[in-house]
Amino acid sequence: MKLKVFESIRFKLTFIALVAVFVITLLIVYSDVKDTEHRLIATQKEKAALMSDMLKQSIMLLMLENRWKDVQDLLEDITKANPELDEVRIFHPLNGKIIASADIKDIGKQIYHEDWNKFVNQRNEPFVINKKGTIFATRVSPILNKPACYKCHPPNHKVLGVLDVEVSLSVAHKSIVEATYRHFLGLALGFVIITVIFIIVGERLISLPLRKLTGVMQTVEGGDLSVRIKKISGDEFGYLSHSFNKMIDALQSAQQNLEICHIQQMEQTSKLASLGQIVSGIAHEIKNPLAGISCAVQVFHAEMKNDDPQKEVVSEVLNQVTRLDKIVKDLLSYAKPKAPRYIHTKISEVLDRALFFLYPEARKLNVKIDLKIQEDLPDILVDPDQMQQVFMNITVNALHAMHSGGTVSVHASETECSKLKDTLGITGCDKVFVISFHDTGQGIAPEDLEKIFEPFFTKKTVGTGLGLSICKRIIEEHGGRITVSSALGDGSVFTVYLPVRNTPLKINP
Ligand SMILES: Nc1ncnc2c1ncn2[C@@H]1O[C@H](COP(=O)(O)OP(=O)(O)O)[C@@H](O)[C@H]1O
Ligand SMILES: [Mg+2]
Repeated sequence: MKLKVFESIRFKLTFIALVAVFVITLLIVYSDVKDTEHRLIATQKEKAALMSDMLKQSIMLLMLENRWKDVQDLLEDITKANPELDEVRIFHPLNGKIIASADIKDIGKQIYHEDWNKFVNQRNEPFVINKKGTIFATRVSPILNKPACYKCHPPNHKVLGVLDVEVSLSVAHKSIVEATYRHFLGLALGFVIITVIFIIVGERLISLPLRKLTGVMQTVEGGDLSVRIKKISGDEFGYLSHSFNKMIDALQSAQQNLEICHIQQMEQTSKLASLGQIVSGIAHEIKNPLAGISCAVQVFHAEMKNDDPQKEVVSEVLNQVTRLDKIVKDLLSYAKPKAPRYIHTKISEVLDRALFFLYPEARKLNVKIDLKIQEDLPDILVDPDQMQQVFMNITVNALHAMHSGGTVSVHASETECSKLKDTLGITGCDKVFVISFHDTGQGIAPEDLEKIFEPFFTKKTVGTGLGLSICKRIIEEHGGRITVSSALGDGSVFTVYLPVRNTPLKINP
């Protein structure tokens, strides 16, 4: 899988950090610029007020000396000497007409209405005014009539004229713009430096360890479990690589165990296969002569008189021959299993037939067989002969476990397949037949429970140990399961689960 650059953690972290840095710095720069702007405007306003006061004093002195003509020169000279002084003029307090001005062309014109409004509203403090894009700090200040002036001006004239001083803010404005540029240049430079730092740090702290980790992971994915991640760092990546190494250790030892187990299983399988061949060969050889012996002994036994003292011996021989015949059949069934012949079957009939042969034995052992089958059980697709063999083997074992009488309860019912999916792994069906065999016999020791389904495991002097392993194979070939629960002295329950299917289960050979 190829990771896109903008999807990498490094890119996302760098991006988020840069956006955060950018926004914070922008806010700082903005508030700094605004602060500088306020301070510069305040300074210019102060300048306008100072100029205005100073001029008013000088005008008063000239007027008292009756030098009105020099007032005009004063206004012109002071404007020339101060390039920041844009306009200095005196206007009439009654009509707003300019009566003296640094720019002589303005005399006789009407004063700006903003300045006039300020005067009318008696606002003496400096203010900022925007005239066609240029900003000025302005002060409109009345020249008041004082007793010293009464010789020329009647006392009822309160205001003799209004002094209008305008200081340009263009110089201040220029320094604000320059300061803003400087700030933004600093911001851009800081941004580039932080980006480079993030790229370098991200490469060292994230990308490099991640590349090492993924490289080793890919090697492991390819099947090589001998690789390990060298200590990357003391951070989370170091911890991750340590855990990953431990995981590969565990995987490697599991793989080794699995290989050993597999080899052992292969050996066991080949041993069993050859054992099966030998066993079935011998069983075949024995089968026919045994049939001949059985026939001969049966004839011999039938022809003997009942009071013949030898008849008991012949009976015993017949018993032993029957036992030998059963052993040969079990061996053949185990070593050369036949494929099931699936037929739609009534399970009740198979159970009846299996138990029919066992009732005489049960009576002899004083054991009651209690059979309960759920009504309306549908037909099931099984090999009826093989199922009969399974039910007989389980019931015979139950009978053999009861030495002083007891009960074998055989119950057959139906349940939902979904209920058994998790516990037994039976899938692919709607319903499952559950056939249980509950005996009140001696029970099974816990250490034997896991061995009883293994071939040749027997605790009986006359047993082959093949009965349950044959049952298990037949049931699993039908897609079913067999379970056991038992405790010593408490009897045992063997349960057979058979899935109800419309088509036989295909089992790989
Ligand atoms: N219902 C049962 N109660 C007690 N033990 C049982 C029962 N069924 C089976 N076993 C034990 O399982 C062993 C294996 O049974 P099986 O495979 O049928 O072989 P065999 O009957 O020839 O011994 C028996 O020897 C017995 O010890
Ligand atoms: Mg048995």
